[in-house]
Amino acid sequence: MNLRDILQRNMDLRPWAEGERVPWDDEAFSARVLEEHLTQENDAASRPAAKIKKHVDWMHRQILRGKPGRILDLGSGPGLYTTRLAKLGHTCTGIDCAPASIDYAVENAPEGCSYQLADIRSAEYGSDYDLVIFIFGAFNLFRPEHVRLILKKALAALKPGGTLLLEISSLDAVDQIGNQPAMWYSAQTGLFSDKPHLCLMETFWDEEQTVATERFFIVDTETGEVTRHAASTQGYDEDQVESLLRETGYGEIDSYPSLTGKPESAGDDFLVVTAKKSA
Ligand SMILES: C[S@@+](CC[C@H](N)C(=O)[O-])C[C@H]1O[C@@H](n2cnc3c(N)ncnc32)[C@H](O)[C@@H]1O
Repeated sequence: MNLRDILQRNMDLRPWAEGERVPWDDEAFSARVLEEHLTQENDAASRPAAKIKKHVDWMHRQILRGKPGRILDLGSGPGLYTTRLAKLGHTCTGIDCAPASIDYAVENAPEGCSYQLADIRSAEYGSDYDLVIFIFGAFNLFRPEHVRLILKKALAALKPGGTLLLEISSLDAVDQIGNQPAMWYSAQTGLFSDKPHLCLMETFWDEEQTVATERFFIVDTETGEVTRHAASTQGYDEDQVESLLRETGYGEIDSYPSLTGKPESAGDDFLVVTAKKSA
């Protein structure tokens, strides 16, 4: 692509029309995202360690009642939750499509932790889990038909009586993504490129489908070459989440203010929902 393609861009971008998501599974992109996961400066890709510790303590006490269990983490990133859960005596499996994150997770895995580099839409999940977690808004990154598929696969992987734990970006948070003003920045290196570049970002909000779409044009400042990325985020209200869970076979649906069980700081705008596989 070149600069002319930017001038001729689609100004009425529909959800998922120009790509499923940012290239999570690309080697170089995933190496740059890994740095974001590990930084303690912000919570763009993962939370800082102190917050993750509180979430893990809550999952251990509230969801697993302090008893050792088998846990599956969908979109586990570099294993920041699974590592801590394994140290509390749980057996954990993480699945993620980002090669650099999975390499880091494997290198730092304590006893009882294993990982799979795979797309969670097609991965083999294994079975007999007490808990499946799908957190930090990863749920919203998939089209609803893919979410249904993932929920059904998770149900099949749970033990009877096992729990699914979801942390879903709130509808307000997704609305805000879709209604950000267009912006640009220049950088020597950044998430989308190791080379000097401009990043031009604009967003679209589909009110009817409640989907936010972000589009990024990355302009290599030496060659003028343009690369395009687009990602959509599906917004849900609590009723829609409950319907999806019932439709895919779950029961005993509960909600919580956060992954600590208590309201968290402003800006942490998530719905936390648990649902059970019938015993
Ligand atoms: C916001 S990060 C959260 C990571 C981790 N759960 C945490 O909180 O530290 C979302 C993760 O989902 C992963 N992901 C996105 N799409 C995926 C897919 N189709 N299959 C597997 N993993 C995926 C990304 O690679 C990334 O690690």
